[in-house]
Amino acid sequence: MEALRQQLAQLRQEIDSFPVLQPADAEAFRIRFLGSKGSLKSIMGEMKNVLPEQRKEAGQLLNEIKSYAESVYQQHVDRTAAKTTETNSGIDRSRPGSPQAIGSRHPVTRMKNEIIGIFQKLGFAVAEGPEIEDDWHNFGALNLPAHHPARDMQDTFYVQQNPDWVLRTHTSSVQIREMEKGNLPIRMLMPGRVFRNETISARSHCFFHQVEGLYIDEQVSFADLKQTLYFFVQEMYGKDVKIRFRPSYFPFTEPSAEMDITCFICGGEGCPVCKKSGWVEILGCGMVHPNVLRNCQIDPEKYTGFAFGMGVERPAMLKYGVNDLRLFSENDVRFLRQFPALS
Ligand code: DAH
Repeated sequence: MEALRQQLAQLRQEIDSFPVLQPADAEAFRIRFLGSKGSLKSIMGEMKNVLPEQRKEAGQLLNEIKSYAESVYQQHVDRTAAKTTETNSGIDRSRPGSPQAIGSRHPVTRMKNEIIGIFQKLGFAVAEGPEIEDDWHNFGALNLPAHHPARDMQDTFYVQQNPDWVLRTHTSSVQIREMEKGNLPIRMLMPGRVFRNETISARSHCFFHQVEGLYIDEQVSFADLKQTLYFFVQEMYGKDVKIRFRPSYFPFTEPSAEMDITCFICGGEGCPVCKKSGWVEILGCGMVHPNVLRNCQIDPEKYTGFAFGMGVERPAMLKYGVNDLRLFSENDVRFLRQFPALS
């Protein structure tokens, strides 16, 4: 019995000192200690020499060392397997992760979404149209026939390959596309990028964004136009802001107006933003001209409607305190990082 004890102590030492660095070593370990011709098997073979009254104790000792060897073997297998994948893939899994830079919405997109969100409360849906337009959608159908002097109100970019194509000068072209579909009534908001041949400066650019609105139904009146835009202004700039309409001219609306709001910077006192007038112009609007409805096969005797168009960059500049229009399109990350993702 004493001899068995010594033998097992010896075996335990061998188990502990057996070098296992890779999976093949773990297999060698298994063969050496746990295999059918391994050390444990041969010691078990000697059980017959143990006195019968000592067999129980000897059996226990053997079982102990066997499960010990098995657990050490399992550890070797796990450890060497994990190590291989690490070395094979060349990835050091213990390295700390690298932080991912999270992008955020562009301030113009943010302002656009804010505008859309307000009109959505009133049931306006959103539609988009192409940036390269034909003359008909950008001008003709909007009551601006060829040689109409009002075409000069907007400096147009023409597409060289086809004299009938232009880069749309306003989102009003999308009104036409919506009306042509003939699904009445229409309550639509049409955001998008527009292009004009203007000198690039802090205050003007050759492209910018507009949001167009259109509401066509039976018995839509100027009162609906006023109330809708008043709701928008209160949601956007606060309950205390007042509005005023100034008569204006757009070929596609009659009557036409420009809408001002009391300056939300100085509250009407007079400041550089409102040029000391106390009022800031924010959009053009009017009742859709009967010719425009006719051009889209809509009966002006039955249907009426209002439309409006507003720029996105200007309110964004005022809201975020941006003093140069060019910053919006230069993609300078130092500028963009000042508008972190909203939490
Ligand atoms: N399209 C005009 C512009 O770009 C803005 C505008 C004015 C749109 C009056 C309208 C409107 O729908 O009714 O200056």
